[in-house]
Amino acid sequence: MKQIILTGDRPTGRLHVGHYVGSLRERVRLQNTGTFDEIYIMIADAQALTDNAEHPEKVRQNIMQVALDYLACGIDPEKSTIFIQSMVPELTELTFYYMNLVTVSRVQRNPTVKAEIKQKNFEASIPLGFFCYPISQAADITAFHATVVPVGEDQEPMLEQTREIVRKFNEVYGETLTEPQILLANNRASMRLPGIDGKAKMSKSLGNCIYLADSPEEIKTKIMSMFTDPDHLRVQDPGKVEGNPVFTYLDAFSTDEHFAEFLPEYANLDELKAHYQRGGLGDVKVKKFLNNVMQSVLQPIRERRTYWEGRTDEVYEILKAGSAVAEKTAAKTLQEVRHAMKIDYFDENNLLK
Ligand code: TRP
Repeated sequence: MKQIILTGDRPTGRLHVGHYVGSLRERVRLQNTGTFDEIYIMIADAQALTDNAEHPEKVRQNIMQVALDYLACGIDPEKSTIFIQSMVPELTELTFYYMNLVTVSRVQRNPTVKAEIKQKNFEASIPLGFFCYPISQAADITAFHATVVPVGEDQEPMLEQTREIVRKFNEVYGETLTEPQILLANNRASMRLPGIDGKAKMSKSLGNCIYLADSPEEIKTKIMSMFTDPDHLRVQDPGKVEGNPVFTYLDAFSTDEHFAEFLPEYANLDELKAHYQRGGLGDVKVKKFLNNVMQSVLQPIRERRTYWEGRTDEVYEILKAGSAVAEKTAAKTLQEVRHAMKIDYFDENNLLK
């Protein structure tokens, strides 16, 4: 069986370091293993519109920003097809057929939908398009017969919903669609990077993000102002590493090579943590190290971003070409779906048979 990746992001803002360690870094790694036959990275503008219907210009502007972030992180258009969701209208048609296989109460029970309804104050009046987005996400994934979907942990319920739709479709109409597997980041810290204020989620509205496009000065200021262990008042006091975002960031970003380069008195993160827990290690020293680590990770990303910012006409061509490739694949799947559902009336005069 072919190994196929599909994943994507809503273009509602620039991507931040939480996206990077939670999913982007893994996508680039997977891309470069060479073990995948096809890789699709989708800018989910239609999904972004499900809760931004009144702000299409925000979604539109962020398409280029997200594309730049992808290229900056090392998504290579020679190896991965980057495309815009709404430029593949076949996805919408698939969504419409899949909607018949899902009940309202099943979507209502989807934990991600539940959380978002609360967060967006949609309780009293949920836009129907928003409510159906898990079904549209199943269309995104199955249109490409994706076998692997590398995403953040919050997308787990979407994958579960997709697998259910695949099973139901195949049961009703015959074996047609492919069941995908989720692929999560490989450590807890990377899966859920907190904001610099220590809040559970990095989010634009909370103002607690470090963006991939931030300048070295902005990164440094943000790191030096980071929340740490509030009980670690004096250097000699023992400190806590659990729930301390500075250490969570080190879990997500630092490698033994970073220690050799910037803090050779410790061999690795375990030794640094042990010292902090014993007492005698100040927050400023740890933050300075984190700053060195993050600057060295983010510098090449920022440089590549600057390179592509000067070539947005090329980025435009990449998106246009990618969308054409994606549409071709999705059209083939749609044909298979219509055939399975016996609604391919005009293919080989099927309606007459
Ligand atoms: N829901 C994802 C997000 O909020 C974006 C997305 C849309 C997606 N369709 C997808 C992710 C299909 C993976 C697969 O970022």
